Amino acid sequence: MRRLLVTGGAGFIGANFVHHWISSHRGDAIVVLDALTYAGNMASLEPVSRHSAFHFIRGDVCTQGLAAELLRKHDITTIVHFAAESHVDRSILGPDAFLQTNILGTHELLKAARQVWLEERKGEGIEARRFHHISTDEVYGSLASSDPPFTETSPYAPNSPYAASKAAADHLVRAYHHTYGLPVTTSNCSNNYGPYQFPEKLIPLMLVNLLDGRPLPVYGDGLNVRDWLYVEDHCRAIDCVINQGAAGQTYNVGGRNEWRNLDIVRFLCSLMDEAFARDAALRSRFPGSPAATGRASEELINFVRDRPGHDRRYAIDASKVERDVGFCPQETFETGIRKTLDWFLNHEPWWRGIMNRSYGEWIQRQYQSEHRG
Ligand code: NAD
Ligand code: DAU
Repeated sequence: MRRLLVTGGAGFIGANFVHHWISSHRGDAIVVLDALTYAGNMASLEPVSRHSAFHFIRGDVCTQGLAAELLRKHDITTIVHFAAESHVDRSILGPDAFLQTNILGTHELLKAARQVWLEERKGEGIEARRFHHISTDEVYGSLASSDPPFTETSPYAPNSPYAASKAAADHLVRAYHHTYGLPVTTSNCSNNYGPYQFPEKLIPLMLVNLLDGRPLPVYGDGLNVRDWLYVEDHCRAIDCVINQGAAGQTYNVGGRNEWRNLDIVRFLCSLMDEAFARDAALRSRFPGSPAATGRASEELINFVRDRPGHDRRYAIDASKVERDVGFCPQETFETGIRKTLDWFLNHEPWWRGIMNRSYGEWIQRQYQSEHRG
């Protein structure tokens, strides 16, 4: 039986991971530690909130002593560290919070694990403990179109404040294994999409804008490439690494699924047109959408100023995680995107709830006066 401390469990991937773990590891206990920043949402944990194995603590990973107290109190065997500031555009407008949470917050957790697991418990049962750190492919920088995908030995070359803060955290995690013998693993994943994703990221932003008939802001020429993975597949990969990965190792996770941004936006437009054409209820629920009156959703595509320092291409070579821990994605992009669209259509109160909070301010700040048709 494992007792997990999941940081950032009220965010997009963290909440999906909590759902995954509770349904596939009965008998395990989960403590979620989450500061509930703008990105954290208790509604994403509602389906598990009354489960006897689930506890929620509102708190900041940067708070000295808090994580150590939780490790002792709940006799935590496994830390799964998602908590982070995660949006590249926000890191460009205001990097400080990224350095605070992503670097110093990760260090607080590492110190707590070292103190409780290695010092106070004198390393007893350490073979059964694990600190799993969730990282990103963005630490490797940008690829040219002819470059091979990133492997675990690709040099670090982070280009945004977000990516630099995640790279710094990865180095600290590595150092705590090398220097103190803390049993760590790290996974560096590509772009996720799916249920509960905050509508500041490309796919959910486009979906909610399509439904309400707002412009679809495509940065630059729209030809930047990302490698997309359905979030439940990412959660399965993390599960495989926690259970079968070797301490001290890093694993790249991706879907071998490269797409240009503009092609994704067009694909979403065509799915939306198709859904509205066959479902009269959608046409009356979302009258602001062009598809509600039979117009093509693509009319909303709007090229806007490029993201500063915008990485051109990410791609992951997932051979190691497939070979060493047996990970294999279960969704294709087609099935994953259709599930995602259905989820957003069936969970309107979830995303409307976000848009009624501080969301409007962010959209105003990020996209104001940027539309250039
Ligand atoms: P998210 O922004 O949706 O959620 C982050 C969560 O962390 C929120 O619940 C927030 O309240 C919480 N949090 C933020 N600061 C905190 C603090 N100081 N203390 C405690 N909790 C805090 O992020 P996400 O997209 O779910 O990403 C989760 C992790 O996965 C991050 O580490 C991110 O770098 C990594 N990652 C994300 C993707 C992706 O495509 N979204 C891909 C690869 C890796
Ligand atoms: O690669 C993994 C990373 O993926 C994670 O580490 C990050 O936490 C996550 O946010 C994501 O970063 P990206 O910057 O790749 O994701 P985002 O959804 O913000 O953007 C995807 C692409 O779409 C990127 O090339 C920028 C572009 N884009 C994004 C937005 C929000 C647009 O063209 N228009 C937009 O409005």
